[in-house]
Amino acid sequence: MIIAVDGPAASGKGTIARALARHYKLPQLDTGLLYRAVAEKVSRIGLDHTIEADAVAACDFDDALLDDPVLRSDEVGKLASIVSAHPLVRAALFHRQKRFAAQPGGAVLDGRDIGTVIAPDADAKLFIRATPSIRAKRRHAELRDNGSTVSLDKVLADIRARDLRDSTRSAAPLVAAPDAALLDTSFLSIEASVQRAIELVERQL
Ligand code: C5P
Repeated sequence: MIIAVDGPAASGKGTIARALARHYKLPQLDTGLLYRAVAEKVSRIGLDHTIEADAVAACDFDDALLDDPVLRSDEVGKLASIVSAHPLVRAALFHRQKRFAAQPGGAVLDGRDIGTVIAPDADAKLFIRATPSIRAKRRHAELRDNGSTVSLDKVLADIRARDLRDSTRSAAPLVAAPDAALLDTSFLSIEASVQRAIELVERQL
């Protein structure tokens, strides 16, 4: 069983994907981490994120990098959205994601193009969304808890910029697959979002 979970930054897709993986006892891959690892490696080797060949040179990152907490920062997220717009970077990460999805028992993958590009034949597809201001509030609270003093306005501006970049790029733009179930988490608690996600998956099986 393959479950595809897509959606924009801070929509709740990561939390929902992890909960679905636990519920169905499936391995889970946060594909955003792969793009984050490429972005971080480009920075470490002193190359330019906007140059496709530079970003491609960073696609052979060491797997240990995936565990580095620095990947979770907003700065790396922003750079990830720059490297992820290069078609050759997407191509370099494609097979790794396909292999993960093809595991015998199935898998949960979350990202931006799982239901459209990586696993178009997934057994269940969810597209998670929430209003930009609610996503900004969630991200702002998370950053504040981690000691950051960044303003809510700045977080909202960053979220809008990332949405725009992710949804207007020509290579695998952020868009719901036509057969994905839409789940708006704007006014739902985490528990209610997870419960609803399970119901929507069950309906598609
Ligand atoms: O989901 P996360 O915020 O970790 O993703 C970081 C960036 O990686 C996104 O803004 C997006 O540009 C890119 N990404 C992507 N395709 C995916 C997952 C992430 O383009 N499947």
